Formats: sequence, structure tokens, C-alpha cells
Amino acid sequence: MPQEHRKYTRELLRKYDIELTTTEVDDNQPQPFDAETALELLRVSFNHPIRLIANALGVPPKAMIEMGKKHNVPVAALVGAKEHALRQVAAGVDILVVQGTEAGGHCGEVSTMVLVPEVIKAIKPIRDVPVLAAGGIMTGRQMAACMAMGAAGAWTGSVWLATVESETSEIFREKMIAASSRDAIRSKGRTGKPARQLRSVWTDAWDRAPESPGALPMPLQSIISRDAFHAIDRAAAAGNARARDLVSYFVGQGVGLIDSVKSAGAVVQEFKEEFAEAVEHMNALVAE
Ligand SMILES: Cc1cc2nc3c(=O)[nH]c(=O)nc-3n(C[C@H](O)[C@H](O)[C@H](O)COP(=O)(O)O)c2cc1C
Repeated sequence: MPQEHRKYTRELLRKYDIELTTTEVDDNQPQPFDAETALELLRVSFNHPIRLIANALGVPPKAMIEMGKKHNVPVAALVGAKEHALRQVAAGVDILVVQGTEAGGHCGEVSTMVLVPEVIKAIKPIRDVPVLAAGGIMTGRQMAACMAMGAAGAWTGSVWLATVESETSEIFREKMIAASSRDAIRSKGRTGKPARQLRSVWTDAWDRAPESPGALPMPLQSIISRDAFHAIDRAAAAGNARARDLVSYFVGQGVGLIDSVKSAGAVVQEFKEEFAEAVEHMNALVAE
């Protein structure tokens, strides 16, 4: 871990009256994305009655596909480009989550509107793998649109962040409600790989500031930001008004559609009603 990046983070946080207490990587602790840790987590997962397991950021390890087959659990893979989808199909995954650039978290550059039909077309001659569309889907109408493009279903993330059940802080919820779609930017500042998140002083400090040392490769940047965001979120929750400017989290462009926090049950009910309305609307168009 380069000391320069630690120092840059510590000084950035200090400007906002936040003390970064954890400054060293403890080599005795499991680190993010460690292969042995991941395998252990897979074993734990398959010891439970799970119905689906999903992998992202590359082709799943062989062991994951084999465990899925053994336990009769479909293995899904997130893809952000046609080339990824072809590799995943060759590796033997059961479901493709085709995720456009609108998505919260790690994402590629192609929009959901283009990527879904592009992948469906590319994999058709090879193997019949169901496609779940993802990226920017916040409403039942959008789900219907994705299924009109040939997706077998939809996969959502950001919409759940604005539910009472979610892990998000009160401050981040307020920021989501205030944000427009353009505030959800792709940045390497959180993990070292391009991931969509809410723009804040943190992302600007890594992406735009002339003195930025540049984000470290994954998983080092994740370690830097993990410690920093513990401190930022704690300070903001304790009433440090300036810390609020740094608060950020993964969220997609769909944040522009968030105007309130609801229960997860209400979100599901709205999905169903809007989906049905959209289908009725399309049927009426055909009938005309
Ligand atoms: C807060 C957050 C965390 C996420 N973490 C992961 C993750 O650990 N692994 C993963 O495969 N996808 C992750 N994603 C991506 C989601 O699985 C999903 O593909 C994405 O949110 C869909 O786009 P949407 O956010 O526009 O709905 C995350 C998304 C969000 C918003």
C-alpha cells in the first residue's frame, strides 16, 4: 500500500475535520477479493438453501460453476459488454445479468437499451441462456420495456437503496432524493475499477483534483476507501456537517427517479402495477 495514497486520504479527510484512525493494512486479516476467502464464502453459501448465486467482475471460478451444478443452483454472471457475455456463455454460466452503464456499482460503457439486444443477438447461435436486463431499471414500465427487448426478466439494485429496509444512512437517502441522474458518475475512486456512485468531494478528489495521486488498482483502492468511508459516515452521522460533502455510495443513474423512501413491499407493488399498465398500453396500441 503506497504511503502517498494513505497520506492523501488522511489529509483530505482532515480538511473536513475527520480523523482517519485506521491507517495500516493488517496482513493477518482476510483482504477483499482474496481467492481463498471467496472459496470459503462459496462453501458457506452452498451450505444454505439458496436458489441462485451470481458472480461479477469476470468469469466465475471453475469451482463456483461445479458447486452450482452439484447443488442444482443456477450460476448467474454480470456482464457489461458483448465480449464478456460470450466468455461467460463459453464458461458455462446458466443466467446472464446484462448490465448497462446506467447501473450502480461496477459497470461498463454501453447503455442497457443497446447492450441487452446486442447480447441476446450474439449468444443466440451459441446457447439459449436467459438474460436478465439490469442498469437504470427503477420502474415496472422499464421492466416491461426490457422484456419487450427480449430479456427474460429484470435485475435491480439502486431502487432498493431508497427503501426503509436498506443499509443506507439517513444522510445518503437525503442526497439520493436531491440528486439528478447526472450526479451518478463512473469513478475509480471507490474501488480502483470504474464504478457508478454518487459524485461527492471524495470522487472529485480522486478524479479531478490536480494533486490526486490517482486511484490504486483493485483491491488496494477498496481498502483505502473502506477505512475512509467508515470515518466519513461516522463523522457525518455524529453531526459533522462538512463530512456530509464527502458522503457517497454506489448508485446508478436511476437515482434521478428517486423522490422518496418507501418500503420494499411498496416498491414491489408499484413494479407489478406499472408493469401491468405498460403491457395493457402496448396491447392497446397493437389493437388500434
Ligand atoms: C450499493 C450497490 C452495491 C452493489 N454491489 C454489487 C456487488 O457486490 N456485486 C455485484 O455483482 N453487483 C453489485 N451491484 C450491482 C447490482 O448487482 C446491479 O447489477 C445494479 O445495481 C443494477 O443497476 P441499477 O443500480 O441501475 O439497478 C451493486 C449495486 C449497488 C447499487
